[in-house]
Amino acid sequence: MALIILITSFKGGVGKSTAAANIASKLAKTGKRTLLCDLDFDLGTLDLITGCEDRVLFDVSDAVSGRRDVEDCTVKFPSNPCLFLLPAPFKNTDEVQPSVFAERLKAICDKYDYAILDTPGADSPTLAAARLCADLAIVVSTHNPASVRGAEKTAESLRESGLECRLLINCFDAVSVSEDRRAGIISMIDATKTPLLGVIPYDRTLMFAQEKGVLADGGEFISSKAFDNTVQRLTCSDTNSRPVPVLYGVSKVKRKKVLTK
Ligand SMILES: Nc1ncnc2c1ncn2[C@@H]1O[C@H](COP(=O)(O)OP(=O)(O)OP(=O)(O)O)[C@@H](O)[C@H]1O
Ligand SMILES: [Mg+2]
Repeated sequence: MALIILITSFKGGVGKSTAAANIASKLAKTGKRTLLCDLDFDLGTLDLITGCEDRVLFDVSDAVSGRRDVEDCTVKFPSNPCLFLLPAPFKNTDEVQPSVFAERLKAICDKYDYAILDTPGADSPTLAAARLCADLAIVVSTHNPASVRGAEKTAESLRESGLECRLLINCFDAVSVSEDRRAGIISMIDATKTPLLGVIPYDRTLMFAQEKGVLADGGEFISSKAFDNTVQRLTCSDTNSRPVPVLYGVSKVKRKKVLTK
């Protein structure tokens, strides 16, 4: 049985796909067989983000419908052998019935240790299916007001349907919090009423690397350690992590302010 994790937010562009790809990659690097599944049937991007667009032959729709063996549809990564990607269809022609799709997708996911489901921001049948088969949801939010409101509504809706959720704050910019221009960590936890899973700093290196299909791995990415810590909390594997580098660029005088707001 897999732990099936839904990555979601009603708000678009907050970093759902970035988080899905990097969390899946880090999980796989711990030796756990991890399926990364792109359920954004309108504009899937996980093949681009993971740098394998030239190797995609079939997709998640082919696998779920049974037209192709799951094995034929998953993309493998020689540098990360426990990571498997089921890409989104370039143009979907199948009608997605959420309950049927969810049942078949769960059967596929259960052959792995973890399954990470990336979903579109807008309501869609694949999001409904993902919600039906997930064990846990990660609500992604940046700390701009529209995104926080989106996370608040997403978390409320998930709780109403009985799905446990955790908050992942993305593109965190400590300087703007210290200058009272953006919501801080504690106020985001309060607004969304959602326990915190992790804080990923704004990382320009990641943004540009991602456009070349490179994930956050190693010291040149300030987000890399933050994704490591997030995965350690998900798997409860190590509580001795170094802190998330959220205080970069903040003077010592203002540090307390960032951590208490
Ligand atoms: N921590 C980060 N630091 C810097 N840039 C980031 C970070 N996370 C995401 N981005 C950038 O933000 C943009 C949107 O990210 P992404 O595509 O993951 O969002 P999304 O929520 O999946 O969007 P959509 O709703 O369209 O599916 C991308 O250009 C990505 O590189
Ligand atoms: Mg996306």
